[in-house]
Amino acid sequence: MTPGDLRQAYLDFFANKNHAILPSASLVSENDPTTLFTGSGMQPLLPYFLGQPHPKGSRVVNSQKCFRSQDIEEVGDNRHTTFFEMLGNWSFGDYFKQEQLAWIFEFFTDVCGLDPKKLYVTVYEGNQDLDIPRDEEAAEIWKKLFAKKNITDKRVFYYGNENWWSRVGEPTNMPDGEPGGPDSEIFYDFGVELKDHENSQFADQKCHLNCECGRYLEIGNSVFMTYVKTKHGFEELENKNIDFGGGFERILAIMNNDPDIFKTELFAEAIKTLEVLRKAGDSYENNPKPYRIIVDHLRASIFLVGDGVRPSNKGAGYVLRRLIRRAMVQSRKLGIAQDEWLSNISPLLITHYLQTYEYLNEKSPEIYKIITAEVDKFRKTIKGGIKALKKIFGKAIGGIDPDNLPLGMKLENNIIRVDGGEVFRIYETYGLSPEISQEIMTDWGLAFDEQTMKECEEAMDKHRELSRSSSTGMFKGGLGENSEITTKYHTATHLLHSALRQILGQHVQQKGSNITGERLRFDFSHPQALTKEEINQVETQINNWIESDLSVAKKTMDKQEALDAGAIAFFIEKYPDQVTIYTIGQDLENDWISKEFCGGPHVDKTGEIDRVVFFKEQSCGAGIRRAYIRFEQK
Ligand code: SER
Repeated sequence: MTPGDLRQAYLDFFANKNHAILPSASLVSENDPTTLFTGSGMQPLLPYFLGQPHPKGSRVVNSQKCFRSQDIEEVGDNRHTTFFEMLGNWSFGDYFKQEQLAWIFEFFTDVCGLDPKKLYVTVYEGNQDLDIPRDEEAAEIWKKLFAKKNITDKRVFYYGNENWWSRVGEPTNMPDGEPGGPDSEIFYDFGVELKDHENSQFADQKCHLNCECGRYLEIGNSVFMTYVKTKHGFEELENKNIDFGGGFERILAIMNNDPDIFKTELFAEAIKTLEVLRKAGDSYENNPKPYRIIVDHLRASIFLVGDGVRPSNKGAGYVLRRLIRRAMVQSRKLGIAQDEWLSNISPLLITHYLQTYEYLNEKSPEIYKIITAEVDKFRKTIKGGIKALKKIFGKAIGGIDPDNLPLGMKLENNIIRVDGGEVFRIYETYGLSPEISQEIMTDWGLAFDEQTMKECEEAMDKHRELSRSSSTGMFKGGLGENSEITTKYHTATHLLHSALRQILGQHVQQKGSNITGERLRFDFSHPQALTKEEINQVETQINNWIESDLSVAKKTMDKQEALDAGAIAFFIEKYPDQVTIYTIGQDLENDWISKEFCGGPHVDKTGEIDRVVFFKEQSCGAGIRRAYIRFEQK
């Protein structure tokens, strides 16, 4: 199967089981301030696990573009990439464990033709403290499925947190309102001959399915999304959901009979071309790392730019900048000029995606232009940056140039302490981010100590005047701990909407909104600027509602019934026949102040949110205003 065949086979398999095929959502998460990127197939579908009906029904399938910036450092081994595609099928309270495990086993063995004797699975061992039982049901289903293929030896293994999935990992990390559940992972065994655990750095540990030695490759994960974390602990969700994610590149690697995903069709041509262009360094076989970093980072950059990200010093733009610069540092090692890799490699990397992601055909010239501009910018300063870097650590180790080490001098694993502010200045002046500086130094056998990195991050934070939550998010790339604050801002959105309609008039309609951990931005139709008086009135009204500690309640009902009850919905055509409505009021039947179509989540009582400050108002196109509110700092 070609990459395109595999993607299509998966979609067809589940379409035949009455799943609606969804297009891939953007790589950039729009209204989810808890994360910068779409890191798994389920992320854009979050509201539907929490009970909102999906317009396409209760069974959906897709292949989702994903990006995990937290994996940047991992890229270089045979199986990690930052960008990847996740094959996903979902049941929103429809089918459950029995069907899911049987179907996915059938897909892997009968459709992809994987040898069932090479497959192993894991299930959740339970957690008494959280009152979540051991998943014997899944284990039994698996045993029967293997038995049908005449495989009766031990195939099912129990694990703890490794078999729990939520966007933030283990149960104790989950903020209130976050869904999660036990899961069951499928592994492919490449066999001892391919991955020699005994002779690897893991030799002193026992090899097992989740061992890092790489013998077993995880290819798919069925999450039984059945819990939501609340103030009172773990509560069962109304719906028993399935969230399956399969590693598209990894499945291809197995079908290619080689654990190196960079040897699949997706990358093979690009890597071969890099080898031809190479004027220094080793071949791919002898030292694959620089090649893997270049092709991964370039492919990811193309997709990020394609979804609207632009290089910058903040948020997603900073991650993109880091990818491009990191790829450039690696290409220096191979003696390849950046303009060469850009023009020669990019087309080879996107060719497998042009049919599925048609926009790439049209957008690619623009994408290359943006990446080229960034490359040119960094090219002008990278040399100076490396020189400055040599100078600061030259001071620290007695003025030695790492490229001219005296014979017999060893700099293996030397941890050095320098002023973090100086490392930051190299970033500011030459664009070498601390991570890139650190990486260049690794090649010289040197590393900054922790204190140096800490000082450097402090200098960067100060420079950007960013709050802690957004800077942690930026470096880790994962979720901040601000799910709770997002929920509060969601409820504040309804209050603001309602206050605007009450004070300015019923012509006010929501046109869009955007929440970050720091504020809510709200666009609405209104012909002129708000007066100071109107702003004060809106702010006072919202704060009065907050102080009155009104109830917030969710109800699922018929779309027409909701409209008849006075619920407002401004994207009405987007809603399915069954909808969820949030009502806010003293008396939810007769005395409510807001009733809106919405997926939630929301707080239970308005008193849970802090007083708001209406701090900015501006024009945002003809007849549209943009308002900003934030919570008052206590
Ligand atoms: N959400 C799960 C994962 O990312 C399965 O789709 O692994």
